[in-house]
Amino acid sequence: MADSLLSRLAQWTGLGRKEPQPGGAEPAKPDRPTVFVKELSPRSRRHLMRHFLALEDKDRLLRFGSKLSDEMVARYVQNIDFARDTVFGVYDRRLRLLGVGHLAFAPRETSRVSGATIKPVVAEFGVSVSAAARGLGVGTKLFMRASMRCRNADVDTLYMHCLSSNKVMMHIAKKAGMEIHRDYGEADAYLKIQPANSATIFQEAMQEQVAMLDYIVKANFKALLKWGARVTGLGGKPGGGADQPPKS
Ligand SMILES: CC(C)(COP(=O)(O)OP(=O)(O)OC[C@H]1O[C@@H](n2cnc3c(N)ncnc32)[C@H](O)[C@@H]1OP(=O)(O)O)[C@@H](O)C(=O)NCCC(=O)NCCS
Repeated sequence: MADSLLSRLAQWTGLGRKEPQPGGAEPAKPDRPTVFVKELSPRSRRHLMRHFLALEDKDRLLRFGSKLSDEMVARYVQNIDFARDTVFGVYDRRLRLLGVGHLAFAPRETSRVSGATIKPVVAEFGVSVSAAARGLGVGTKLFMRASMRCRNADVDTLYMHCLSSNKVMMHIAKKAGMEIHRDYGEADAYLKIQPANSATIFQEAMQEQVAMLDYIVKANFKALLKWGARVTGLGGKPGGGADQPPKS
């Protein structure tokens, strides 16, 4: 009941669209679950840590530009400035993070692509999705949400440390109708973002509300499972195991 209501809300706010809108031509992928992208707070650091530590070396290399050790990952998570940056996450039913997008804002002068804009701030985006949840649209939704945040924050340049050999990421950006510029080196890609309008501002606010509702439903469900396990004496960790893709 709550799930189906959330799915309807998601469709209404654009969250439930299976693929990004700017390119417009992508057909819906009916077998894919609805993905809710939620803005994270400092309270999510433990979840973030677990997500990043589970990434294999090759994925850490793609995500961070180098094979960070566990200690460096921990330091990275501890140092995320939630007041300055925006971190988005996609949770599964057990409230494990399936995907994370970190949108960091920095003054233009300090950016590797400083010549690409006259705006005072440039955004840098890094994204990762748990191996078990790939190919379901999670990365796409995180990317779309981050680019919408840029639009609404009057940031027109989105930088990504992303090799051209990263076909999946290239595919996601192109699917969103974005041209990938590489004037500053092979690994330094940037995208130009459209200006905001009243619809994008409304849509972002609604998407966050729906994602928050989804999170509350999942949190209550998890608490109920725990309580049920205690009462019945079955104990054990509910659903402990590999990450499951989100269900709509
Ligand atoms: C890049 C990443 C975030 C994508 O996440 P994801 O949830 O699997 O992405 P999605 O499911 O939204 O989209 C993947 C798309 O790539 C397509 N794809 C998969 N393999 C591909 C390939 N070899 N070449 C081109 N496209 C490919 C899929 O078909 C899908 O497209 P579709 O939606 O049109 O069918 C994930 O693979 C990841 O975490 N990689 C490691 C870290 C990384 O590379 N981060 C990016 C650098 S910042």
